[in-house]
Amino acid sequence: MKKLDENTFDPRYINKFASLMTAGNGYLGLRASHEENYVDQTRGMYVAGIYNKATANEPSDLVNLPDMVGMTIEFDGEVFSLLTGEILSYKRQLNLENGELRRDILWKSPAGSRFRLTFQRFAAKNDLHVLATKLTVTSLDKPAQMKIVTGINAQQTNFGRQHLIEEKVRVKEGDLLQGIYKTTESGHTIALAACCTFSANAEIAHASKNRQLLSTIKLELQVDTPSILEKMAVVFTSLDGDLRGESPEVASEAALRSYSVAGYDALLHKSAGQWAQFWKEKRIKVASTRDFDQLAIDFSLYQLEIMTPAHDERFSVGAKGLTGEGYKGHVFWDTEIFITPFHLFTEPEKARKLLRYRYLRLKQAMGKAAANGYEGALFPWESAFTGEEETPEFAAINIKTGKRQKVASALAEHHIVADIAYTVVKYYQNTLDETFMKKEGLELLKETSRFWISRAVEETGQLVIKDVIGPDEYTEHVNNNAFTNYMAWFNVEQALFFMEKYGDHDHQLKERGHEFLNRLYLPKANDHKIIPQDDTFLSKPEIDLSRYKKAQGSQGILMDYSRQEVNEMQILKQADVVMLLYLLPDLFSQDVISENLHYYEEHTIHDSSLSKAIHAIVAARAGDIDKSYEFFQESCLIDLGPNPQSSDEGLHAASLGAIWMAAIFGFANVSIKNQRLSLDPKLPSEWSELAFPIMFQGSRLHIALTHKQAVITKVSGDDVCIELNGTEFLVTNKVEVELQYI
Ligand code: BGC
Repeated sequence: MKKLDENTFDPRYINKFASLMTAGNGYLGLRASHEENYVDQTRGMYVAGIYNKATANEPSDLVNLPDMVGMTIEFDGEVFSLLTGEILSYKRQLNLENGELRRDILWKSPAGSRFRLTFQRFAAKNDLHVLATKLTVTSLDKPAQMKIVTGINAQQTNFGRQHLIEEKVRVKEGDLLQGIYKTTESGHTIALAACCTFSANAEIAHASKNRQLLSTIKLELQVDTPSILEKMAVVFTSLDGDLRGESPEVASEAALRSYSVAGYDALLHKSAGQWAQFWKEKRIKVASTRDFDQLAIDFSLYQLEIMTPAHDERFSVGAKGLTGEGYKGHVFWDTEIFITPFHLFTEPEKARKLLRYRYLRLKQAMGKAAANGYEGALFPWESAFTGEEETPEFAAINIKTGKRQKVASALAEHHIVADIAYTVVKYYQNTLDETFMKKEGLELLKETSRFWISRAVEETGQLVIKDVIGPDEYTEHVNNNAFTNYMAWFNVEQALFFMEKYGDHDHQLKERGHEFLNRLYLPKANDHKIIPQDDTFLSKPEIDLSRYKKAQGSQGILMDYSRQEVNEMQILKQADVVMLLYLLPDLFSQDVISENLHYYEEHTIHDSSLSKAIHAIVAARAGDIDKSYEFFQESCLIDLGPNPQSSDEGLHAASLGAIWMAAIFGFANVSIKNQRLSLDPKLPSEWSELAFPIMFQGSRLHIALTHKQAVITKVSGDDVCIELNGTEFLVTNKVEVELQYI
């Protein structure tokens, strides 16, 4: 498997690579900041679920925890920095296969001595609390005095906002550093412990000052003799579900002792074993004329794995996973619509947990609905730990107008309600999990339906949904956003279906639900086959967007036009009607799908990372495979592309999920039709093979597609009936089918 490489040290990319090369395990994420300090470098370590409000009126932040990997290194009094002396060689690699980050440097100090340094680190995949690091240093020219200062540094903040009270810092038994912190508002305890071991005799002293608990280690380097320093660190919090009655403080000390004894290599070996299992069960393999495709897919799967807190259903996935502070670590519709599908089709248990996260916050969603005068459940547009609405009231100041722009999403981006309901239904269709569906699923569907029924208003003899924001956030406060209306309709229809199936006797809801379905206005395609995005969209003026499309992702249009001006033109930030065509394809004819894809593509800047891959999927399904492959390739560049700043504050979690979706729902064209797994492959000409695992209704399948053949193998579980290019097959063991297409 390929590794993600950084071959030169370029300070402009320091934060992008810190996000890209994050180490993690779903419990914690550690940005790939360098051990040594650089002024512009943003360090970051986050634990899923640990949020805090810096002041009462601010939304919660995913807390940037004290740093445990930073080090100041000196050789004969000269500070090691890649900005001084000379870099003779540099290579950093994230090994996607085993989760290890490694940096090899040959450095000549300003005084002219050469040193070889290798930094290694990983977050253990099995022992979720442990971070292991290792430094190997060799002096190549002469004996040298090395001094390392490292420990636990609680000067970390979230872009200046401090979230932690330092409650206790201690050095235990002469070598174990421990810091106990408490979040100022949410009251979570964080216990961190770290301990260094060395291959050579070293002098060590400890000190604590200004929120830093540091060890100073001095040792003599002999020429050509590697010296090794291993630093083990652990993180425990009062939210941990595996504390077994111990306090985080006690648990951290005991755990650290045992990990330090095991040592870096043994822990890595164990963790690598778990990664091997992950890749065996989940890897997609492509034979492409462009090697980058495989790397991009592997990268997205690695990230999907480390962003998902599969250990605890009380937490979900933030818009940047655990790779940075962008969007304050909040959970959006990104989770259900972009991240859950990967889990659902590879390890449905994880999808169930992500839905349970919402279920556990149904009370708060019902509270939000009631507070806004609606019935049922109105889930927050941005969610964190408590389930309350976390969307900031204002966006950053617009430096052209000097005004703060209100963020309207919490008030009107209500489609999230239907997105959650949609994913509940998809979860059931894949798993047939009656236990979940009868309880959590049904309740979620009923309460979300109740919301829509109360949200619609009567106008000229029909029901309409007014003042919403659809997925396209450049078009605010509109009536009858097609995406929202159709998704709300689907939400209520499915609620009624499952109420019937499980004999639910809520007659009033049933009656109101049927009325809603009969009377809700569903925008139809016009004479040109275009589905209006909302009541006024198609009557708005158009402008040439090519300039902005070239710089997509940058939101450059907002520098030339105010948001109000953008709102009054046919300009989409991201897929909206196309998103509808992706989620509910069976409602529309092939030519309507093609026409709308074409029309809305022209009007979409793709300033959101949630956009391109959806266009890729719809284009593939519509048979425009070349265009689809183009969209796919551009989606792969959202984080991995050359733009130095785009991922500084964290990776685009949804777009990583969408890369998996584009391969499986686009090129393999997998869907569930009439309770069957359906495939209608649309491989790009650049791909000679696409092979992947799929979990469907409890059975594990392996599917290998070429342009001529599909080979479907049942790996475990019951026989599965699948539909391939419209023909049904029963997969009892292995099915090989010749494909007749392009
Ligand atoms: C997009 C939303 C998305 C959010 C978080 C915004 O820029 O418009 O659709 O949910 O980012 O990723």
